[in-house]
Amino acid sequence: MFVGRKEEGRAVLLSVRAGRGVVLVGPPGYGKSALLQELKPALEAWGVVVWADKLAPFGAFLKDLFRGLWDARIPVEGVGISKDLEADLRTWGKRYPSNDEKAKSLVKALRAYAENGVNRAAVVVDDATGVQGSMVPWLVALAEVANLVLAAHPDTLKKANTKRLWMRLDRVDLPPLSPKESRALAEALVERYGVVAEDREVYLSRVVALSGGIPGEIERLVRYVSAEDIVRNRDVGTGYAEGLAQREERGVALAPILLVAGGVAIAARYLGLARGEMDLYVAGGLGIAAFVVLAPWLRKAVVAR
Ligand SMILES: Nc1ncnc2c1ncn2[C@@H]1O[C@H](COP(=O)(O)OP(=O)(O)OP(=O)(O)O)[C@@H](O)[C@H]1O
Ligand SMILES: [Mg+2]
Repeated sequence: MFVGRKEEGRAVLLSVRAGRGVVLVGPPGYGKSALLQELKPALEAWGVVVWADKLAPFGAFLKDLFRGLWDARIPVEGVGISKDLEADLRTWGKRYPSNDEKAKSLVKALRAYAENGVNRAAVVVDDATGVQGSMVPWLVALAEVANLVLAAHPDTLKKANTKRLWMRLDRVDLPPLSPKESRALAEALVERYGVVAEDREVYLSRVVALSGGIPGEIERLVRYVSAEDIVRNRDVGTGYAEGLAQREERGVALAPILLVAGGVAIAARYLGLARGEMDLYVAGGLGIAAFVVLAPWLRKAVVAR
C-alpha cells in the first residue's frame, strides 16, 4: 500500500507533461523508487517510458536504454528490430563499439522518435546517484530529446561537474511523511507482516516517532525489529547508513587489538623457545593458531553482521 506523495507525484507528472525533465530528490529510504513505481501507469498513459535502474556503470545504463527503445519499437539506426533482443543488442554493440557511439545512437533514435509528432519518450532512472561528470554531456543531450525523470540523493546534486544537468531539470523534493501518513503506513505494514504487539497503540506511536517519517525506516522497524524492543524502548538500531558507519567504526577499533594479540602470541612463542619453557612455547603456538583462525572470522563478524 502506498501513502501520501500526492503533491510530489503531481509535480513530477506536470513536468513530464510540459515536456520537461525532473529530478526527484530525497535521502535513502524516503521513497523515491516507490513513488516512481507508483507513477509508472500515469507516465505510460502519457507516452513511451524507457526505464533504467541506474546510471552507473554507464555502459549498463546505455544497454538498459537500448532495451527500452527496443521494447517500444523505436529503431536505432543500423540495427534492426528482430524477434531476438539479445541478437539485436549484439548487432548494436558491434556497430557502435564505444560508449560515446552507443550514447549518440540512442540520442539520435530518440530525436527521430520525438520528431514524429508524438509525445516525447520519458527516460526514467530509478537511481541516478552514480552520475559522473563524464556522463553529463550525454544526459544533457538525452534531456533535449526525451523527458528525463531521475531519482537522486541531495548529495548527488553537489557532485563535481554535474550542475549543467540539474540546471535543466525541474526539482521535486521528497520530505518525510506526515505523522498521519506514517501511522497509516505503519498500520498497513503491521497487517502485512502480522506483527503482534501487546499494546498496539503504544507500539504504533513508537514506530512513528522512531522513524522520523521516513518510509524506509518505518518498514525496517516493523519488519525487522521485535515489537517488544520497540515498545520497551530498547536499542532498536538505526537506519541502514548509520548502522553501516557504526560497524565500520567498530571494525577499525578492533583491528589494532587483533594485531597486538597476534604479536603477543608470536613473542610468547619465541620467548618460550629461547628460555626452554615448553608451556609458554605451546601457549604461543596456540595463540597464533587462534589468531589465524579468529582474525578473518572476527573481521567478518564486525563488518558483515
Ligand atoms: N509513500 C510510500 N508509501 C508506502 N511505502 C513506501 C512509501 N515510500 C516508500 N515506501 C517504502 O519504503 C521503502 C523505501 O523506499 P524506497 O526504496 O522507494 O526509497 P528510495 O528513496 O528509493 O531509497 P534509495 O535512495 O535507497 O533508493 C520501500 O520498501 C518502499 O516500498
Ligand atoms: Mg531507490
